[in-house]
This record gives sequence, C-alpha cells and structure tokens, in this order.
Amino acid sequence: MNLPKAKKIDIQKYEGGLSKLANITDAIKLSANESALGCSPNAKKAFYDCQSIISKYPDTSSQALKNKISEKFNLDLNNIIIGSGSDEIISFACQAFLNPGDEVVVSEFGFLMYKIYSKINGANVVFAKENNYKTNINTILDCISDKTKLVFIANPNNPTGTFLTKDEVLELRKKLRSDILLLIDDAYCEYVTHKDYLSGLDLFKKSSNVLVTRTFSKIYGLANLRIGWGFASKEIIDALSIFKPPFNITGPAEQAAVAALDDDLWLKKNIEHNTYWSNKIFETLSKKNITCNLPLANFFLMRFENNKLNSDQIFDEFAKNKIILRKMHAYKINNALRVTVGSKEECELFIQLIDKIL
Ligand SMILES: Cc1ncc(COP(=O)(O)O)c(C=O)c1O
Repeated sequence: MNLPKAKKIDIQKYEGGLSKLANITDAIKLSANESALGCSPNAKKAFYDCQSIISKYPDTSSQALKNKISEKFNLDLNNIIIGSGSDEIISFACQAFLNPGDEVVVSEFGFLMYKIYSKINGANVVFAKENNYKTNINTILDCISDKTKLVFIANPNNPTGTFLTKDEVLELRKKLRSDILLLIDDAYCEYVTHKDYLSGLDLFKKSSNVLVTRTFSKIYGLANLRIGWGFASKEIIDALSIFKPPFNITGPAEQAAVAALDDDLWLKKNIEHNTYWSNKIFETLSKKNITCNLPLANFFLMRFENNKLNSDQIFDEFAKNKIILRKMHAYKINNALRVTVGSKEECELFIQLIDKIL
C-alpha cells in the first residue's frame, strides 16, 4: 500500500501524570495538578442541566463564556479566544506564528507542550538555563536571535513550582524585541498569594505583543471538560482564530465554565485550602530534608539529593500505598518527583507516608 508520506517530527509524545496503578482500582492521583476539591457545585449543576442540548452542535463562538469572561475580568470581547484547554491556545499560537526554521525560547524546565507544539510547527527550540530551578530572564535574553519569534513562560512554572516577580516579567517584556511574541501561561495564577506576583493578565491588559493563557483545568476543577482561554490584542486573537475548529468547545463545558466563574466563594475556599495544606506539606518536606519549591501553586517539585532513598524507590513506596506521584524523567530532572496538593484526607495521608518512608 502506497500511503502519502507522514511527516516525521523529532519529538517525544507528551506523557501526562499516571492515572492508574496496576491492579489497584482506588488509587489516589496526585500526579496531574488537578483541583483538590473538584469543581464548584454550581458548575456541576450547570453541566447536568445541559442534557437537553447534547444532540445539538455547540455555539461556535462560545458567546456565553466570552461574555462572562469579559464582564468578570473587564476585557473587550475582541481580545478573548476560547480553547479546548489552554493547551489548544498554545497550539494555535504556534500554528499562527511559527514557520520552519524559526526559533522559540523556552525555560530549561518549562512546560513540555511549548516544545512539542513548536517542533510540530517546524521551529527550533532553544532552552534558557535556569537558576536553581527558576526561570532566568537574563539567560532567556541571551538565547534571542534574529530568528526568535516566540518566548514562552509559565508563571508559576510547572513542574518547578517557582515564579517570576512582576518586575522580572515586566523587565523581560521591555528587553525583548517588540516583534517577539511573549506567551505568559497563567495556568496556576489563582493559587498565588505572594506580594511580588502579578498574573500575565493583570500585567498586560494593554499590550500588543503578549498572549496570556488561562485554564479551567486547575483551580476551577474542570480538567476533563477541556476548556481554557486566551487574552491578547485583536490582531493576535484574529490570527489564532483562523486555526480554531468550529466546534472545539462543548456546550456543557462552556456552561460549567460560566457557572464556575460565578462562584467566587468556591474559588476562595480552594485558595484557602491550598494555602493551608501547601504550608503543611512544605513543613513536612523541609523537616525530612527534601529539597522543594516554596509553597506557591498547588504542587511541589521534590528533589531527593539529601535523602537515603531515591525518587524511583519513593515512587514505589507511595504506589504500594495507592498514591500516584509524577515522575520527572520527561523533564530530565533527576531524582525528583512532583506531588499535587490533594484533599484534606489525601494531604494527611501524604504527610503520614513521607514521615514513615523517609
Ligand atoms: C503550565 C501549564 N500550562 C498549561 C497546561 C494545560 O492545561 P489545560 O490544557 O488543561 O488547560 C498545564 C497542564 O498541566 C500546565 O501545567
């Protein structure tokens, strides 16, 4: 059979956190930075209330959600695009702005999808060295060449759990050539209470060369519904929209996201839960000499350089106790695991096990 020749791209497929353990049906998944408390009850109700519409195509413009985002964040409707997860917005940006031979700059341990979508679109990925697992704006600037089109930053970054201060982000944008698009990924911004932090959206509402991505998969607890959004100038949004499939957002996902944005109390409860338990986990990890980021988002990158057991042994010990952690091989971070801040019971169990195993 003579099929057309498929494109060959030199990338490893994205491997998300494991969601199952062999022979264990009730494992606790702390491997994908999902919401500890699930979604708002109002979002769940909005989802169930959509039963009568599932035989109809969704609204291709996702107008209800755009209206809600516009009202809530005080944004113009022309500056918003809705995606099947923020992941899809990252993909649109790469499709719209990258050609073979272009370059993108990604932080050494930046979120993996930046590299994957850039390569799919023919660009070369240049990695900027980090400073003790923190994005470094000077090494990013050193990586810029005539061919650079896009710079990606997740703030806070996954998987390192570190962040750039508002001054650092502003300095980076100021020092980058104005024709380079800066993508700021706000996936975990809602969790951050640090005084020196401001989200991409808060910093760049008026910018013409920044694309901000946001997601409903993390604090809003709608990861399975695949919904996120992007904010940028009309020119950028129009460029991305060409690549948007007409029905990329389902009606139930859209309605659940609208209800989620309306439930400020639920958001507050999530932030309080995360602040309380991330501090507790940090105390435990510090006592056990496990090196990790400061409490910030809803996860910790744990490094075991000062411990007797290594990351594979610790992964196995947790797996025996039905807890799934995230291995860091795909990010080439040796002897490390990432853990998501779970529910109260899950955090208590995690802390007990750290105490017992180490
Ligand atoms: C930094 C970062 N950006 C984007 C995403 C993608 O999220 P989603 O496509 O579910 O919105 C993730 C998911 O883990 C992430 O960690």
